[in-house]
Amino acid sequence: MSLLDQITGGAGGLSPRAVILRLCAIGAVTAASASGFAYAGGWLSPGRLTPERMIDGFQEVNGVHPGFRRNHAKGLCVEGRFESSGAAAGLTRVRMLAPGVVLPITGRVALAVGTPDAADAAGTVRSLALRVRLADGEEWRTGMNSLPVFLVRTPEAFYEQILAGKPDPATGKPDPARMKAFFAAHPESVRAAALINARTITSGFADSTYASLNAYRFVAADGTETPVRWAMVPERAPVAQGAADAGRADPNYLFDDLEAELRRAPLRWRLVVTLGRPGDPTADATLPWPSDRKTVDAGTLVLTGTAAEGPGNCRDVNFDPLVLPDGIAPSDDPLLSARSAAYSQSFTRRAGEPKSPSPVKDPPVQGAAL
Ligand code: HEM
Repeated sequence: MSLLDQITGGAGGLSPRAVILRLCAIGAVTAASASGFAYAGGWLSPGRLTPERMIDGFQEVNGVHPGFRRNHAKGLCVEGRFESSGAAAGLTRVRMLAPGVVLPITGRVALAVGTPDAADAAGTVRSLALRVRLADGEEWRTGMNSLPVFLVRTPEAFYEQILAGKPDPATGKPDPARMKAFFAAHPESVRAAALINARTITSGFADSTYASLNAYRFVAADGTETPVRWAMVPERAPVAQGAADAGRADPNYLFDDLEAELRRAPLRWRLVVTLGRPGDPTADATLPWPSDRKTVDAGTLVLTGTAAEGPGNCRDVNFDPLVLPDGIAPSDDPLLSARSAAYSQSFTRRAGEPKSPSPVKDPPVQGAAL
C-alpha cells in the first residue's frame, strides 16, 4: 500500500491520481476587484503564487478543455428557491435571511474534477454552488463541497497538492515520492485526510451535505459579529453509497440520478449555520469546529429542476465566494481571497474560449411551480 493509500485509508481500488482528484475540491465579480483582494492578502507579491500560476497548475495537470471551468469542470445547472426561516435574523442583517423571504436561486451541482468528461465515481467530491439575488441586485454567492474539512490550509499548499497529483508520464500515476513529500510537508493535510476518509459517502447529489468549509462573519443590525460556517443538509435521510454503484456503466450516473429524482419531486435541504465561539479556528479550513457548537436553521433550499449548462445559465456564472450581501463578511481565512482571485482567472479564460456542449446532457426539467 502506498503512503497516499495509507494516508487516505485506501480508496476502494482507485488510482492515486483519482484519490488526489477526489480530495481536490477540492473545485461575476470583476477581475479588478478580485485582484484587489489578492493584493490585499499579499498574494501577488513578486516571486509568489499568482492566480495565473494557480490556474496554469490546473491546466498542467488536467490539460485545457476550452470553455470549461478549470476545476469542478463537470457540472449541471439546478434551479429552485430559497425559503428563509428568519431564525438567523438576530445574528445577521442579511436581507435574504429575514423572516418570510422567498427567493429564486441559480445553482450548479458539480464534481471536483478538472476534466468535463470524467466518469462519475461515488468517491469524487461533489459540490453545490448557489446564487441568491434580491430584486435590487444585491447577491449572495456560495460554493460548497461534500467534505467535512478542506485538505489544505493555504493557497500555496493547494498549488503544491495540485502539482503533486500530476501523473508521471511513465506510469500515468502521480509520483509516490512527490505525494509523500507533499504530506510530509503538510501534517495538517494528513490530519484533514483522516477526517475526509472517515466521512460517509452517500448515494448521490440528492442526499449529500454541502459545506462552506471556509468561515465567514455574520454581522447583525447593531454591528455584533459572529463567526459562522454554513452547510446545506438534506432533509432526506442520507443513504450510504451501495456496492452496486461501483459497477454502474453510465458515466453520468450521479447527474442522471439527480435529474430523475427532480422529475419525480422537488428536493429540500436545510441551511444550517454553525456559530463559532471565541478561539474556534477561522483561518484554517482543515480544522473542524467542536461538534457541540450551536446551530441555527436559517431556511430551506428547494431544488425543482435541472438544465444542461448553456449560454446565460449557470455555465456563465462565477460562483465567487466573496460576492456577499451586506451582513456577511469574509473571515481571515487565506483561502477566501485566493479562491476569489483564482475563480476570476478561470472565469476570464473560459469566457473567452469557444464552447462545446457539456457531456452532462440531460434535457431541461420543468420542476414544480416556484
Ligand atoms: C486556494 C484554494 C482553491 C482554489 C485555487 C480553487 C479553485 C477553483 C477553480 C479554478 C474553480 C472553477 C471556477 C470557475 O471557473 O468558475 C473552482 C470551483 C469550485 N470550488 Fe474551488 N478552489 C479552492 C478552494 C475551494 C474551497 C475551500 C472550497 C470549499 C467549499 C471550494 C469549492 C468550490 C466549488 C463548490 C466550485 C464549483 C463552483 C461552480 O459550480 O461554479 N474551492 N475552484
